Amino acid sequence: MTSPRRTFAIISHPDAGKTTLTEKLLYFGGAIHLAGEVKARGANRRARSDWMKIEQQRGISVTSSVMTFEKDGVTFNLLDTPGHEDFSEDTYRTLTAVDSAVMVIDAARGIEAQTRKLFEVCRLRSVPIITFVNKVDREGRPAFELLDEIADILALDVAPMSWPVGMGGLFEGVLDLTTGKVSRPEGDSRAFLGKVDDAPTLPPEVAEEVELAQAGYAAFDADAYRNGDLTPVYFGSALKDFGVAELIDALSRHAPPPRPQPAEPAPVSPDNKEVTGFVFKVQANMDPQHRDRIAFMRLCSGTFKRGMKLTPTGHGKPIAVHSPILFFAQNREVADEAFPGDIIGIPNHGTLRVGDTLSERADVRFTGLPNFAPEILRRVALKDPTKTKQLRKALDDMAEEGVTQVFYPEIGSNWIIGVVGQLQLDVLLSRLDAEYKVAAGLEPAPFDTARWIAADDAADLKAFMDLNRAAMAKDRDDNPVFLAKSAWEVGYVADRYPKVRFLATRER
Ligand code: G4P
Repeated sequence: MTSPRRTFAIISHPDAGKTTLTEKLLYFGGAIHLAGEVKARGANRRARSDWMKIEQQRGISVTSSVMTFEKDGVTFNLLDTPGHEDFSEDTYRTLTAVDSAVMVIDAARGIEAQTRKLFEVCRLRSVPIITFVNKVDREGRPAFELLDEIADILALDVAPMSWPVGMGGLFEGVLDLTTGKVSRPEGDSRAFLGKVDDAPTLPPEVAEEVELAQAGYAAFDADAYRNGDLTPVYFGSALKDFGVAELIDALSRHAPPPRPQPAEPAPVSPDNKEVTGFVFKVQANMDPQHRDRIAFMRLCSGTFKRGMKLTPTGHGKPIAVHSPILFFAQNREVADEAFPGDIIGIPNHGTLRVGDTLSERADVRFTGLPNFAPEILRRVALKDPTKTKQLRKALDDMAEEGVTQVFYPEIGSNWIIGVVGQLQLDVLLSRLDAEYKVAAGLEPAPFDTARWIAADDAADLKAFMDLNRAAMAKDRDDNPVFLAKSAWEVGYVADRYPKVRFLATRER
């Protein structure tokens, strides 16, 4: 019997406490060992830096990692999403590989921009969300205000599962609304060290709040949560260990196990015997000693065994996966077996691409991993013209990883790159320099946006392309792309060519 799986991500705005919470989840899950607060700070820092080594080598934190831990017989796979205000498609795609998410909110700030964007991606796929309102040990906004904001902005029902007994200087613990017990701060650190008050006397104003809250908000309903209509809300402090154990318990009890995945010709159930999975991320050069790549595959069905042959759908020969990698906290461990919901790292030399389906049978294809139309386009100016080949390889590699998109115009030799956020441009330049030894600059492009084009009749598409050659380009996979000077122009052209579809996302 395999243990149940919970594959999830944490979504939040920078500084809300995602890193702190991640460390605590790993700690409570036994994946990292800390002893005492003072030592913990140092160890914490080390754990953080270990985990972020890859990011540090790159000078910037843009990668998603996978961490696995176990608690009370449940295996948790935590997929990290980069917490920048500015982020790449990588982040979106990581969310296609999870079954649920934890949304961390700073009690003083409420819902912030990045949280909201990530939430929208979760909603597109009906990913259920558990909310963790963090930092209640500090001054924060009233719990009612926070709950109403979540409900209003995200259009979700909220079900408070716990309640802060005061905040900031008045913080006296967290009340579990199910058991009626209060976890109390203790000692100089004012952290939760295990002191639980079974029959607490609440300050009168808190007792009143609790009564109002229980009357005014929805009760927890597991089906509504799993459908993505309701979010249970936990109040806590990742730093002081309040609410962390409850969060793990909630994931274990309520978060969905691996769900059937959208695919053609039919969705794939995790109970399916054949091994199937999809690549949601490709990371090049994880080890600076080897120019290897790791394709991150989410296993969707079957029991994967080391050495198994899997075929990428649509292209390529079967590949034997001899040294798959599982991600146990900071260590990469070689996996012998993996189950639906698990993430496997598959070392390869560029054969595997984001969006690829891998399976024992070659007739299934997972759908729904989108490419997004770039919001910023730049022309790449090479400083040394003898490096054209290296530049092309670098741009192709990074397009494949989903760091940037690349467009090769039909006319002229100025390659154009497209990104969803500004940060990706910095990443591109620093990696061109550090990994590919190519000195390049970025110039404004004569275009502002791009659309993939399609038509039912190939002749219509060709006619459009012939008439608009100066605005036509190919993406890395040779798909035709229309480069436009503005979103307005896209609308204008689309009106004139009703038989051509202009697509802001492309599914692979
Ligand atoms: P992020 O990954 O979401 O960006 O946030 P991170 O965990 O790095 O936390 C951001 C800051 O908030 C950190 O402080 C962290 O210590 C603090 N923090 C996180 N959770 C809590 C909490 O429950 N209570 C309180 N009071 N603070 C919390 P920093 O000063 O930026 O970093 P550090 O030097 O203290 O590590």
